[in-house]
Amino acid sequence: MSMPTLSAQEISSGRVVLRKAHDADRSGIIELFTDPVVRTYLGGPRPRRDVESHLDTSGIENATAKPGSYVIARNGTDRLIGTLMLARRPADRPGHVTDDRDELELSYTLRREEWGAGLAFEAAMAALRAAAAELPDQPILVVTQTANQRSLALSDRLGFRHVCVFEEFGAQQSLSVARLHSFAS
Ligand SMILES: CC(C)(COP(=O)(O)OP(=O)(O)OC[C@H]1O[C@@H](n2cnc3c(N)ncnc32)[C@H](O)[C@@H]1OP(=O)(O)O)[C@@H](O)C(=O)NCCC(=O)NCCS
Repeated sequence: MSMPTLSAQEISSGRVVLRKAHDADRSGIIELFTDPVVRTYLGGPRPRRDVESHLDTSGIENATAKPGSYVIARNGTDRLIGTLMLARRPADRPGHVTDDRDELELSYTLRREEWGAGLAFEAAMAALRAAAAELPDQPILVVTQTANQRSLALSDRLGFRHVCVFEEFGAQQSLSVARLHSFAS
């Protein structure tokens, strides 16, 4: 049975707040899914029309409805700058470090104009600290394409340790791991 993830609806830390999506996030969410640079190692940009019609059908709130799924917004302006997810990696996908194959996996995206300012690091640290305060100690995964240097640099800075590489989606993926309670403050 799946272990829980973060239960908080909102986590605020320094320059960022992790919160659930609302209507004002629409253009930011569309940009994240359609920007070819942001999507370089995430399967490429999605067609704008498909993203818009999905949001119209499902509702903006649905984008972060799952536990552990957040929009990253700027503290103060509340403007969406990215997304962050801490969710169970499905057992049927490759890239695990336990026999249960049910570990929490951290993933993140930032709008292109927000790169290079430490904002993803700040958001990830806030999520991991909150998770460390709420959940039992356990391994946390980051899986990212080996070619995705920025993502690898971020996971290194956060303290994740490279474990192995494997193939998925026709690309080499890098698996890194950290103990959740190493983020306890
Ligand atoms: C992966 C991604 C979130 C990393 O964003 P990022 O801004 O590079 O990451 P960080 O928040 O750690 O910021 C680090 C950079 O900010 C700089 N920085 C500036 N002020 C800083 C501060 N106060 N604190 C920390 N770093 C700071 C660092 O020096 C570093 O600069 P560099 O890019 O010149 O090396 C971003 O590249 C992205 O959205 N990529 C596309 C989506 C994707 O592939 N996601 C991975 C899926 S798991």
